Amino acid sequence: MAEVIWGLATSHVPSIGAAMDHGKTADPYWRPLFDGYGPAREWMAEHTPDVAVVVYNDHANAVDMSVTPTFAIGTAASYQVADEGWGSRPVPEVVGVPEFSDHLVESLIDSSFDLTVYQELDVDHGLTVPLSVYCPDPGDRWPCAVVPLLVNVIQYPQPTAARCLALGYALGEAIRSFPEDLKVAVFGTGGMSHQLAGARAGLINQDFDRMYLDAIEHAPEKLAALTREEYIREAGSEGIELIMWLIMRGALGPRIRRVHETYHVPASNTAAGMVLFENLSPGSS
Ligand code: DHB
Ligand code: FE
Repeated sequence: MAEVIWGLATSHVPSIGAAMDHGKTADPYWRPLFDGYGPAREWMAEHTPDVAVVVYNDHANAVDMSVTPTFAIGTAASYQVADEGWGSRPVPEVVGVPEFSDHLVESLIDSSFDLTVYQELDVDHGLTVPLSVYCPDPGDRWPCAVVPLLVNVIQYPQPTAARCLALGYALGEAIRSFPEDLKVAVFGTGGMSHQLAGARAGLINQDFDRMYLDAIEHAPEKLAALTREEYIREAGSEGIELIMWLIMRGALGPRIRRVHETYHVPASNTAAGMVLFENLSPGSS
């Protein structure tokens, strides 16, 4: 049976990817951020999954703003790296795993999560930057296949945090019911506090972020009880991306170990956070 072996929460700031693509990670501005990733990257390199389910949001790059799926999943054999206006990032194409995606679609729809299905999809910085945070030097292929799981966090009304945690529980069950012996990692991406536009542009809330980094491990229900207005008030209009961490957390189950955590302000306009959990009961919820 398939197992969820670890979960990674990480910010997906586009310039983190650009810093890697342009060889700037040792620059004084970027070095502290990338130094912070080191121990997690070493541990993940020793625990390579077969598949990563990457929970992320598209930023109106590949998904037309005229259609807003609340939750969606990719079932393609491969996903091209989106051109966000400066050409595609120089990273490998993302390899899919259609049979496993199809299983997740069926299982999640049976659990009353009526996902939109993408049989074709380009993936933007929301997915490729977390892959680079995981694996900085992939060569000509990423270490594992990927299932993209998309969440609307950019158009009102976003799903509630409670619904995201519930989707995480259902995702964990869906993964564990796949009959083949797959090792699966789940990524929860985006956040932490940031706001890119409007009167509060530049907002960072370190107290809220620190609380979140702690509670995601021991008290995810507390984070699931916050309203979308509370997320936006506390973490900024883009900080609501944090609800995607709850999908990762729900998929892991109760017995986890914090492998590494890092928090750095700022990366571009964002408080960059990362936390890596090992699942101590990978085959059960
Ligand atoms: C930034 C952060 C994001 O999450 C994003 O999607 C785009 C830009 C930033 O801080 O620059
Ligand atoms: Fe974003």
